[in-house]
Amino acid sequence: MKDQEKLLEKAFLALEHAYAPYSGFRVGACVKTRDGNYILGANIENAAYGSTNCAERSAIFAAYSLGYRREEIEGMAVVTKAEEITTPCGACRQVLSELLGQETPIILSNGKETMETNMGKLLPDAFGAKDLDK
Ligand code: THU
Repeated sequence: MKDQEKLLEKAFLALEHAYAPYSGFRVGACVKTRDGNYILGANIENAAYGSTNCAERSAIFAAYSLGYRREEIEGMAVVTKAEEITTPCGACRQVLSELLGQETPIILSNGKETMETNMGKLLPDAFGAKDLDK
């Protein structure tokens, strides 16, 4: 996608803001909006481990909190410094499946390798609004 390098750069900046004292595993994410905004999110852990928020959800919730909606989001990046590329966890897939377009590019990188995917591929046959007749 256009401006992929800048999107990745912002996601790596978000990674530097991760609060991960328990796992030490830092994740950064960035949502790029069609009007040119870059909205950052990092994983924010908690001593009550289950209260942790992943980077993907931090970024997409921040975007929605600013008033952006699915149609206004051009793409998203999720980055780590792990050996292998990390893909979004199950909870994030469920959330992103509703809040991003099915074909919206999601760029994953560990700084060495980069791949592009989307929610249609990451969570096919998802439970969603249609199941609630919405
Ligand atoms: N984490 C993310 O931020 N995104 C993912 O997709 C996978 C996991 C975070 C949660 C926790 O802070 C740390 O990585 C280890 O699980």
